[in-house]
Amino acid sequence: MSEAASGSVRALRATDAAACHQLDQAALGGLWSLAQWQRELSEPGRIGLGHVEHHGLIALACGWLVVDELHITAVAVAPERRRQGHGRQLLVALMEEGRASGARHATLEVASHNRAAVSLYQDCGFQTAGCRRNYYSDGGDALIQWCRLGSSA
Ligand SMILES: CC(C)(COP(=O)(O)OP(=O)(O)OC[C@H]1O[C@@H](n2cnc3c(N)ncnc32)[C@H](O)[C@@H]1OP(=O)(O)O)[C@@H](O)C(=O)NCCC(=O)NCCS
Repeated sequence: MSEAASGSVRALRATDAAACHQLDQAALGGLWSLAQWQRELSEPGRIGLGHVEHHGLIALACGWLVVDELHITAVAVAPERRRQGHGRQLLVALMEEGRASGARHATLEVASHNRAAVSLYQDCGFQTAGCRRNYYSDGGDALIQWCRLGSSA
């Protein structure tokens, strides 16, 4: 995994569940419980990457391999560490891991009003393939995104 001046990107393990849960609470508003994070990081077919600095986890990106598709389930950067390239770095690394594990496409859902995330995914080659109306509890729409994973993601 790549080394950065202020930390490193590495595979997440079950022992990282508490740190992931904490970052999830701060960055995603509580996507999963601690038990769900423990499953996410230990079940087969899961890929989880984290950017870890000396004081802890500052960013994560996770996905599931479903045959030849990488289903991206979470991308999050600590609020105080955004706009420093960590989201892009981890997303690209996750796509590369997925491709190396046999995925030919990556897919995810993103809230249409989440400008930062929509922009990040577009930057990384995703295209909108559909829209699920009123998908979220706040009534927001979900954009379905797909990206072909080429020889280099
Ligand atoms: C979306 C998120 C992961 C981006 O992480 P980040 O580390 O801040 O993003 P990066 O610095 O790597 O930026 C990469 C690109 O994303 C886009 N982007 C990121 N933040 C943006 C913002 N606030 N507004 C517009 N575009 C933004 C830009 O295209 C940017 O490229 P640029 O810096 O060349 O303009 C981060 O904002 C986050 O954790 N948000 C909350 C959780 C979330 O919504 N996750 C996605 C759920 S689907």
